[in-house]
Amino acid sequence: MAAAAACWLLLPGCGGEGDKGKAEPVVDEATLAVMRGFVEKLTVVLPKTVDRSTFRDPEEQPVIRGALAALAYDASLLAEHSRSYESGVVRLQRSLERDTSEILRQYERGHYDRAAFLLRNVTENCVVCHVRLPSPGDSPLAEHFIDRTALTRLPAPARATLQMATRRFDDALTTLEGILSAEELHPALVLGPLTDYLTLCIRVKSDCDRPIPTLEKFARRPDLWLRLRLDVEEWIAALPALRKRVQGEPDLASARTLVTEGIARCDLRDPRLGVPHLIAASAILQRVINEGPQTAAQLAEAYYLLGETESRIGRNYWVTEAPFFFETSIRVDPGSPFAEDAYSLLEEEILMSYEGSDWDEIQGEDRALLSELRTLMDGAGR
Ligand code: HEC
Repeated sequence: MAAAAACWLLLPGCGGEGDKGKAEPVVDEATLAVMRGFVEKLTVVLPKTVDRSTFRDPEEQPVIRGALAALAYDASLLAEHSRSYESGVVRLQRSLERDTSEILRQYERGHYDRAAFLLRNVTENCVVCHVRLPSPGDSPLAEHFIDRTALTRLPAPARATLQMATRRFDDALTTLEGILSAEELHPALVLGPLTDYLTLCIRVKSDCDRPIPTLEKFARRPDLWLRLRLDVEEWIAALPALRKRVQGEPDLASARTLVTEGIARCDLRDPRLGVPHLIAASAILQRVINEGPQTAAQLAEAYYLLGETESRIGRNYWVTEAPFFFETSIRVDPGSPFAEDAYSLLEEEILMSYEGSDWDEIQGEDRALLSELRTLMDGAGR
């Protein structure tokens, strides 16, 4: 990935000392080419996962194995490109690299169902990165990719994920609106799509008006339970005011206030009430970081606040960006007043990713990361 891309993808203060002007929202051509290649291979292999018999059919195996090997290779290229850049990108690309080689290994061992499951989940890595910032427009690359293949038979939430992974955001919005209106899936099963929908509208499309009619219809569903209905009604009421707050130049102070309001609205009994506030805050924060210029102290706060929002609104535990937002907050300014909290939240995120296993089970890499950050903080006099 070229320096310009890395700048845009969160690296604070890159482009040389003193060059803190607007970062260009571009990814270098080589990286885009790998992403396009990835999509091409997905179009070959993903539709074959829809029928269990196709994916394990010996006649299909050379094509499938070839595509899986090529995906693993592409992921290693992406990881190679990102190696010298900001830790968030490195982590995402490394997770992609690990996942794709695991898929190939499972497939070669004849664990077809496991390989198919992992293959469908690999696109989560693509989604978290693609929904960070406003999109200038959908990529024409994967137009009709799903309609033309067996993927139309995937459950709608999985289709929406694929559409976000291939940057077909308008298609994804249509799919998500269908899910929320159709009453085919119980509301308890659509909480993920509901958050995705708000994220796409507020963060990717910068549009707080579009979700209102869909949410109004959703709130009228007879199968909604009371608390969720009240949450959605509160969201509808909050959106017009949020629109005003996310418009205009992104600024850290408004994001900070929104995070505080969002967190205050969420409690253990009702973790969802503040979700639109937190998504709106994260939209501002991503732009604050992207558009610079910022001091180290401001960036440290912006990353810390992003970690706080992501740990509450993240799509799932499969891929979450919260840990590297906390990590980056410390790296940017190890002496900042946020470093200690960022450290303890990062530690907790890491422990939770080991499903509550104790300190001894933490992999060397994560342990080294924590002690490196602690040393940075000690060196900065904290
Ligand atoms: C680290 C962040 C990141 C990750 C991870 C990532 N992408 Fe991207 N992707 C981008 C950015 C940034 C763009 C350019 C968006 C724009 O047009 O401004 C992009 C663009 C694309 C495009 C549009 C290319 C074109 O020429 O129209 C496709 C397709 C794509 N990505 C697919 C993928 C797939 C599939 C994955 C997962 C295997 C993936 N990306 C992972 C950041 C990422």
